[in-house]
Formats: sequence, C-alpha cells, structure tokens
Amino acid sequence: MRVLFATAELSPIATVGGLAAAAAGLGRELRRAGTDVDLVMPDYGGIALVDETSFELDVPDWVGAAVVRRGRYPGVGPLTLISVPGMARAHPYLRPDGEGWPDNSERFFRFGRAVAALVERDAPDVLHLNDWHTGVALAALEDPPPTVVSIHNLAYQGVADGPWLDLIGPRGSHYEWWGGTNPLSGALALADRVVAVSPNYAIEIQTPEDGFGLDGPLRERGDALVGILNGIDTDLWNPETDPHVPANFSRKDLSGKAVCRTALLERVGFADDAIPLATVVTRLTEQKGIDLLVPLIPLLGQIPMRLAVLGSGDAVLAARLHELADQHPDHFAFVEGYDEALSHLMFAGADAFLMPSRFEPCGLTQMQAMRYGAAPVVTAVGGLVDTVPDADRNPKGLGFVADEVTTEHLLAAMFRAARTVSRKRERAALCKRMMAVDWSWTEPAERYAELYAGLCRART
Ligand code: ADP
Ligand code: GLC
Repeated sequence: MRVLFATAELSPIATVGGLAAAAAGLGRELRRAGTDVDLVMPDYGGIALVDETSFELDVPDWVGAAVVRRGRYPGVGPLTLISVPGMARAHPYLRPDGEGWPDNSERFFRFGRAVAALVERDAPDVLHLNDWHTGVALAALEDPPPTVVSIHNLAYQGVADGPWLDLIGPRGSHYEWWGGTNPLSGALALADRVVAVSPNYAIEIQTPEDGFGLDGPLRERGDALVGILNGIDTDLWNPETDPHVPANFSRKDLSGKAVCRTALLERVGFADDAIPLATVVTRLTEQKGIDLLVPLIPLLGQIPMRLAVLGSGDAVLAARLHELADQHPDHFAFVEGYDEALSHLMFAGADAFLMPSRFEPCGLTQMQAMRYGAAPVVTAVGGLVDTVPDADRNPKGLGFVADEVTTEHLLAAMFRAARTVSRKRERAALCKRMMAVDWSWTEPAERYAELYAGLCRART
C-alpha cells in the first residue's frame, strides 16, 4: 500500500511543535511495518537530500512554479520536498520578531494545491493530510484516493480572506467559512476519516468549549471521527541509551537517575538536596497554561518544591519568568530557548513534570517525562486524560491530575506529587510503573494501517 503523507513539520528537519515528532514517528513506524509511506513536506530551503531527483508539478498559475525534489534524508529515509513561491524561509510560520508571516495562509494554500497535483501524478492508494497547512489539497481533487485528515491542533486553522474559494479548486465551496476560506473546515468536510490525536480530544472537539468554532462541522462528521493516541520515539527517548544525559538508567536500576538529578540541579543553579524538583519543557503559548503557574512561584518553598522551566515563545511571559527567577533563585529557574539536548536532562533529572495545559490535543512531553521516571502533574484535558491516570485514585495511576484548570487545583496536585516523590518507596513504585508503559508508535501505527486498509477495502 502506498500512502502519501503530507505535513508542514517533520523532525528533525522542521520542528516547531509536536506535529514534527508525530509525523516522523508515525511515518517511521508505518514504514517499519511495511507500508510504503511517501513523506511530503514543504521545501523551506537549505534541506540537502542524498540521491536527489527533481521535477515540476502541473499546477494552476496562481500557485506559481511548484518543484518537487525527491531523495533520502539521513535518519529519515525517503523524503519528498515541494517548493512553491514564498515557502523558503528561516522559520516555517514565524518572522524573526515572533509574529506569524502575514502570508502564511497563502503560502500553505499554494503548498496544499501542489500536494493535490502530486496526488494526481502519483496516484497513491491513500492520502493522509495533517492540520490546516495541507487541507486545501482536497479542494482540487474531484476523485481523491481514500483520505485521512489528522487534527493535531484545532486552535490553528489558517483562515484567509480573499478570492480563494474560486481559486483553490472545484470543491472550493466546502471551504467557505464566515465569508473567508478555512483550509481545515473544508478538509474535515471532505475527508473519509478524521483522526484526533487522542480519544479524549476526539470527544472534546465536538463541544462548543473546545471546538474552536468547528464543533458543529465535527459533530456532523461524528461517524467518521476517531481518536488515535500518538506515540513517542522510544529510541530517541530512551533513558537506557540516551547520549544527552550524564548517566543512563532503567526501571530496574534507577541509580543513574540520581546522577542526572544532580547534574540538572547544578545546571539550573539549585542546591543538591532532597527538596522535590519539578520541570517544564514547553512552547510558551496560552495553550500551555504557564501563566497559571506564575502565582504559585512565590509559594513553592511551602510545598516544598523547586521548579525549572525550559521554554520559548511569548516574549512577555518569558520576561516575567526571568523576573521571577531573579526574585526566587532558590526555588525557581528559567532557561529561555528551544534546546533539545537540555530537554532530555530536564526529563531525566526531574522528580516531577508539570503540564498545566488549558487544552492539549495529545501532548508528547508527559509521555517523555514518564519514560524518564518524572511524575507528570497535569490538567484533566485532551490527551492528558488518556495518558495520566491519577496515582492517588488508582492503584495503577501514573501521575497527579488537577481536576480544573486553575492555579488552586494545580497547587493541590503539586502538593500531592511532592508528597509521593518525597516518600522513597512510593516514589520507586511510581517510577517503575511509569517506566514500564509502552509509549511507542507500534500500536498507534497499527491502528492507522488498519484505518488505511479499511478505507481501501470500502472503495473496492
Ligand atoms: P506541542 O506540540 O503542543 O508543543 P507536544 O507535547 O505535543 O506539544 O510536543 C512538544 C515537543 O517539542 C516535545 O517533543 C518537546 O520535548 C519539544 N519541546 C517543546 N518545547 C521545547 C523546548 N523549549 N526545548 C526543547 N524541546 C521542546
Ligand atoms: C499539537 C498539539 C499536541 C500534540 C501534537 C502532536 O502540537 O498541541 O498536543 O501532541 O500536536 O500531535
């Protein structure tokens, strides 16, 4: 079976959020299990391929020249890059000042239209689109192959004003959205299956509270909508072999974790003592709820708990976190930036990992944390509900859940986490449970492969 899998991000080539890791992880596992996956992404420039061939796509004038480069990318395997005018930029979505490029919708409409041309040329058995960036592809295809659309984050929809409905293709009217063009709503209407990246998110997005305006259209697609939980790359996130941490460890021998903890305490400037150490690794956006932690920072000493945040994004929030780190150096540290190597130590050295998300389609960091024996403290939203049963309410629990997205509920969950990780035996038992869970892509990839096969059978 040949699957054309289109995504705006792919680790390690273009990484903004979890979409990059999810696309790479699912693509790799599907290939390993025998599916022929054509990974297709925008050519952002400066991406060198081995054994490269190239050709031009047949696209309408408004798209401009669409050139495909095909070859192999080290560590990824076969890769297809599509260049369209305006796509090659240093960051996929953001200007150097952190604002979005003003022509983002247009850039990805061109890309989506070019993906449709590639589908017409290559005739894959299945088309798999991800998020709004690829959604326009279905407008141009009057007889598309069975199509799956994955929703990684409904908060981003790429809506544009302008004459796009007539341009994007014969089925453009499906994309009409309050007078504008919504690449995601059209794709959701036209896809054979819509996949949310966790079962709980599949339910949440059908409600007005979490549907970002698309709950109605999603309820209409109810029968076609499923939730499949993401996995993580368990080779990359492996405490037994991780080259980014000073000592390796396993659930049978946790001694290396203590070495990592000492190294992390030193790295962020905390004393090497027994007070629980929690970390956060995140994009600094409204979604992640880091602002909810701000009022807690002066109270950390009373829990007691120390907190170290690695994050990049919103400049105002970053400035506030720097200020708080200056004011509370014994309990709070902030490292600004996107630092993959350090992120491994932030998981490996931590006793707990905080994720106070307002919404979370799946979330990968809580799984990465558990893989390294850091107990997640999470809000009860999205994929966090599917991955983190509460350890105080469930003998097989894996973390600590704040029932409501409020500072007060987070504080209560942090207290409970601090109590458990301070008790040697309880802590060891929790570590072993967390580290025993299989978070790999094996099972999710099987689910996707079954989905593809079912859609193909239904067509014949
Ligand atoms: P989202 O996609 O909403 O940002 P996820 O939890 O799905 O959230 O995925 C985020 C991915 O990006 C994880 O692999 C995480 O380790 C990584 N990440 C996020 N912020 C940083 C950072 N500041 N430095 C290094 N890695 C980060
Ligand atoms: C999005 C979501 C995140 C999810 C990731 C991968 O970025 O915010 O929750 O894990 O996509 O699907």
